[in-house]
Amino acid sequence: MCGIIGYIGKNVEQNLLSGLEKLEYRGYDSAGFCVLRDGEFYVEKSVGSVQKLLSKTFFSDKFGVGIAHTRWATHGEISICNTHPHFSSKGDIAIVHNGIIENFECLKEELEINGIYFYGQSDSEVVAKLLNGKLNIKKIKELKEKLSGTYALAIISKKNKNIYFLKNKSPLYVGIGKDCSIIASDPSCFIGKCERFFPIDDGEFGQISLNKVDFFNDKEKIIKKSKKLNLKLGFDGKGIYDHFMLKEINESESVIENIIKKYNSPTLQKLLKGVKNFDFNRIYLVGCGTAYHAALLGERYFSKGLNIDVYCEMASEFQYKNYQTDKQTLCIFISQSGETIDTITALDYAKEKGARVISITNVEYSTIATKAEINLPIFAGREVAVASTKAYLAQCIVLYILAKFLSNQDFKCGLQNFRVNLNFGDDEKIKNFAKEVLKNEKVIFIGRGMDYITALEASLKLKEVSYINSIAEPCGELKHGPIALVDERTLIICIATDKSLFAKTLNNAYETKTRGGKLAILTDVILDKNIEKNFEYVFNIKDIGVELNPLQSMITLQKLAYYVAKEKGTNPDKPKNLAKSVTVE
Ligand code: M6R
Repeated sequence: MCGIIGYIGKNVEQNLLSGLEKLEYRGYDSAGFCVLRDGEFYVEKSVGSVQKLLSKTFFSDKFGVGIAHTRWATHGEISICNTHPHFSSKGDIAIVHNGIIENFECLKEELEINGIYFYGQSDSEVVAKLLNGKLNIKKIKELKEKLSGTYALAIISKKNKNIYFLKNKSPLYVGIGKDCSIIASDPSCFIGKCERFFPIDDGEFGQISLNKVDFFNDKEKIIKKSKKLNLKLGFDGKGIYDHFMLKEINESESVIENIIKKYNSPTLQKLLKGVKNFDFNRIYLVGCGTAYHAALLGERYFSKGLNIDVYCEMASEFQYKNYQTDKQTLCIFISQSGETIDTITALDYAKEKGARVISITNVEYSTIATKAEINLPIFAGREVAVASTKAYLAQCIVLYILAKFLSNQDFKCGLQNFRVNLNFGDDEKIKNFAKEVLKNEKVIFIGRGMDYITALEASLKLKEVSYINSIAEPCGELKHGPIALVDERTLIICIATDKSLFAKTLNNAYETKTRGGKLAILTDVILDKNIEKNFEYVFNIKDIGVELNPLQSMITLQKLAYYVAKEKGTNPDKPKNLAKSVTVE
């Protein structure tokens, strides 16, 4: 993960730090920068968020060349010595790195035999220790030949005013403005400074000076076309909310409205038709984490309407399964960020096998959106909280639209009905229940059919933001093992929004109560008194149909995760050990 930025121009510290704030979603274990001014390096590092670094920084408005980094630790503990930038042995070259240098142990051993001292344990430090003396393009090419793994690297030296760069699999972009040059993991760092930008492709390297960039590949200098930067900040803070997570859950209604509007437009209809025109007889849906759960729901939508094989797989496992993949296979890659490396790797694999490849993303300039033949945007707006909420809803809705479109069915009625009946639940009741959740040692979410998928996502959400031990199980699987976990300190949250499965689901819930578990239920069925008395908490949702009920229930369950975290005192926007964009395998 990690975010990197390099800046050439005036007010370097200010520009580096405001860039780092935009990149913090990529990791927030520690942050640091190095600025070259008048032949000297000015360095600051801090463990924790960019805010902490800000408070330590001395700002200068003079011209300078700088690089900065926000870290999600992979190799080496979270400490100042493992915080980037890293320095060459003589301290005259500084580097920032996003990715993993896979052969770092070999390289380090060799360097250590030659007497090179390492102050930390990070794989990135090896890159700095491989460099010395005056930098030039030849040296960057030689460096590239030594490295294997994933990297976006920005490098400065005391000897000149350039930023050198090289890239493999980790995102990297260059923006050239009127009075500055910038390199960053995300083009959002260019907003307000550059009108056009260059995406850097894998294997490319080069150098940036003020107002100029030179690109090279292994063979020659290359000329690249810049792209217009069509990004607005679109980032209006938390508003009336304490956290982005709750704000984003509450944006669900406008997200649904936006998607309905956009997918009725000629541009999006054309994209949907484009997918329909592919000649395929098999569909694979692929994603990670929450996006994988969206894929699971998508699998149900597609299987229902289309008479072809539909499979769903986690991106990190996709290439190990030896799925039959050929030109009649449609692979749908789902990713909010569009930068998840596992999903990118799976996409590359599917392409190599000749499959037709489309993506469903929230970031139209992202690597996944760019690599796919067709990208279907989810129009969720920027999602800041690490826990995905409105993007999950949006991904599921776009899958629903695509499934309906491919099977020649209308999608508008169902979605309009959903929007009109959308219910955000009773916050006070959810808050009270959150206190109850915290009294337990573990939480088991259970469901049948599509409700099991909701259970999976609800459990992920809860553990992610509150660190509570939680699992999700299909109702029918409980007695095959997981029921052994149930005791008086176990809360079972039963999700039952498919009336045809209600009786069976209820029986499975009772089986856990018999074994001492405490029961709560989320359902669209109005319970009679005899049933109700078995549950300590009952959450009712309005029935909007079997296909969309899982989305309605998820809103209440997202809120539950949020209020449990809040009650416990953890930060739901920035959970420990996580990052918004997962760019390491
Ligand atoms: O950006 P992506 O949708 O590819 O991210 C995939 C997962 O890393 C992501 O959904 C993760 O599971 C979320 N933090 C869950 O809330």
